[in-house]
Amino acid sequence: MNERSPIGVFDSGLGGLTVFKVLARRMPEESLIYFGDTAHVPYGSKSPEAIARFSSEVARFLAGRGIKLLVVACNTSSAWALPAIRKAAKVPVIGVIEPGARGALGVSRGGRVGIIGTEATVKSGAYEKAIKALSKGARTASAACPLFVPLVEEGWWSGEVVESVARKYLAPLKKARVDAVILGCTHYPYLKPVLARVLGPRVRLVDSAEETARETEMILRDLGLRAPRGARGRREFYASDAPERFKRLARRMLGPGVSRVRMHRFD
Ligand code: DGL
Repeated sequence: MNERSPIGVFDSGLGGLTVFKVLARRMPEESLIYFGDTAHVPYGSKSPEAIARFSSEVARFLAGRGIKLLVVACNTSSAWALPAIRKAAKVPVIGVIEPGARGALGVSRGGRVGIIGTEATVKSGAYEKAIKALSKGARTASAACPLFVPLVEEGWWSGEVVESVARKYLAPLKKARVDAVILGCTHYPYLKPVLARVLGPRVRLVDSAEETARETEMILRDLGLRAPRGARGRREFYASDAPERFKRLARRMLGPGVSRVRMHRFD
């Protein structure tokens, strides 16, 4: 493993490409390997044991590809499986929870932070813990939004149905008068315009992708593992099922640069 080794990026499916995109934009010289565990998605409704098992398998696979650092783009895995992932990956691991919590406290004026995510992420209380560790006086309110992932995957990113689902899910956060909301799931950045409309202009939306990419850059620099300036990073994609579907949707998000998606099945 050296500075030219790739960074691994992992998600339960396609959603983590939101994080991949920011990493690629900020660090074009770094090589990136993305793994979407499409055979097991969604993680958000699975048990903690299953989430840890699937996540460790992916981490072991990426470790075998010689990565120098692993970014866990999936909020559900970051919430439940970081210790298991760290054990399997044997390289530095960055999850999205702490960067997201820091980002929220950075923009919240009154320290009242809302969190939305999958059922598993909300149940874990991981964001609340991270926020309280950074600011004892902060107050939090959370809401699971299980229908958002399938809506985004169907391409329903706006319109009447999404808006009425959002109104229902976000009502408790509005009642708690939060002033910042963490988009605690890889898919939610696609719904930003609807969420912003429903929550109103005084609520700031926090997408942890930027903050996570910044932290990745900083850690690599501290470890002396940044790729040399001017290098041209490679991009590789793996999926554990239906790679053609993954490729079609990934091209919609990242453009024609996604030329090949390899399949890796876990037996
Ligand atoms: N990637 C998951 C997350 O960020 C959302 C999709 C799923 O449930 O697997 O929590």
